[in-house]
Amino acid sequence: ISMSNMNKYIMSLDQGTTSSRCILFDKQGRICSMAQKEFAQIYPEPGWVEHDPMEIWASQMSVVTEAVSRIGASADDIAALGITNQRETTVVWDRRTGRPIYNAIVWQCRRTADYINRLKCDGMEDYVRKTTGLVPDAYFSASKLAWILDNVEGARKDAAAGNLLFGTVDTWLIWNLTKGEVHVTDYTNASRTMMFDIHNLCWDKKIIEYFDIPEVMLPQVKPSGCVYGYTENSLFGGCIPIAGAAGDQQAALFGQCCFDAGEVKNTYGTGCFLLMNTGDKAVESKNGLLTTIAAGTDNDVQYALEGSIFVAGAGIQWLRDEMNILETSAQSEEYARSVEDTAGVYVVPAFTGLGAPYWNPYARGTVVGITRGCTKAHFVRAVLESMAYQTYDILKIMENESGVDIPKLKVDGGASKNDFLMQFQSDILNVDVLRPECVETTALGAAYLAGIAVGYWKDKDDIRKNWAISNTFHPDLADAGRQELLSGWERAVRCALAWAE
Ligand code: G3P
Repeated sequence: ISMSNMNKYIMSLDQGTTSSRCILFDKQGRICSMAQKEFAQIYPEPGWVEHDPMEIWASQMSVVTEAVSRIGASADDIAALGITNQRETTVVWDRRTGRPIYNAIVWQCRRTADYINRLKCDGMEDYVRKTTGLVPDAYFSASKLAWILDNVEGARKDAAAGNLLFGTVDTWLIWNLTKGEVHVTDYTNASRTMMFDIHNLCWDKKIIEYFDIPEVMLPQVKPSGCVYGYTENSLFGGCIPIAGAAGDQQAALFGQCCFDAGEVKNTYGTGCFLLMNTGDKAVESKNGLLTTIAAGTDNDVQYALEGSIFVAGAGIQWLRDEMNILETSAQSEEYARSVEDTAGVYVVPAFTGLGAPYWNPYARGTVVGITRGCTKAHFVRAVLESMAYQTYDILKIMENESGVDIPKLKVDGGASKNDFLMQFQSDILNVDVLRPECVETTALGAAYLAGIAVGYWKDKDDIRKNWAISNTFHPDLADAGRQELLSGWERAVRCALAWAE
């Protein structure tokens, strides 16, 4: 590593579902500056979710400016830039004007559930499963992209003429950062589109033909750590190499240094995503887990098994923003601790259907077990506990399918700061829960990918040294109590699924 690199930072852009963030990391993986901005969630109809791509871009740039100016850094002080993003969210824009032709359709959006039913009726389910590693679902980009092409007048024709571009959020940001020079994505994001052959690492012709998607609009796909291009001069007053990109959950797996087969992390963000590195083996799940590509720095890709929970922190945000039960998310811990238990209340936050292992787009949020004595505190506690139960459901399947015992769980993401939740998680799983010093693992993972690509860090061993535990939560609940709680949860989930019938 050259001396000129020693005092520099790696800039990470973390474009999440509810906020855009920019974090500058130093060589030790410490946060030197950070800025964050929430942006508008658009709900045009029940079960539909959109974002304005221009607002995504503007909020991202505003936090970049804020983070950089807080420590008086200039382009020269940034060795490289890495991007991590909410996955699957679909943007289509006109390359001539740079304007989106429709709002971004967010991963949580259920509007294309019927497209998926049709795909199953057309006998494509097994093919999609085998080729993309995914359970066909409206969650992924393919049907969202088809919906935009079907519903925006003239879009399909324009796309075939090469005027329209498709991208997940990483692609949209890189295209804007390079002022339209570079149209790329990385393997991890491509693996969430339901159009990508994860074994042969290319767009799958049969699937894109099925959805009638012109191939010219798809980005080039590259490894997660490589120099994609350079930021256009006018943005930062200098060119910064854009050297890393990965979907946020794969970035978190990398940031938690889960480089070897069998290593697992759980991120409590808007949703909650449990990923296990399975090395160079793409393990096929029979019980609703996804096979996906893990972030790597070269062409030899690694795979991961994933359990996707759609609502985790979003449940707490809902209590705060829609129900007005909380003033701040942090308050949830206080409420949860003020009572002994939930007084028999269970909340299944299936606001946008249920993901793994059920994959039911029609399930909806369900509350069971309310009695006259139920208070706000019981209710808040039940929402928090739902994150731990959903994680339990997935972890058990993962252990069975991978044949790997999971004796400890590395956690990160916003809600992992909640000590009550982490203790309850440990109690319900009956395993140790390990919280690292830096829970901004998603952003850190993107920084690591970019930093390795430009030689700021030498290799994985070099960054492994930065990982340190801050807290370990040990299980402290008798088996009988655990079983009783879990059986109540199972019944509650059955109610949410019955509602969908
Ligand atoms: O697959 C969706 C996921 O990438 C969203 O992550 O952190 O915004 O919940 P997050």
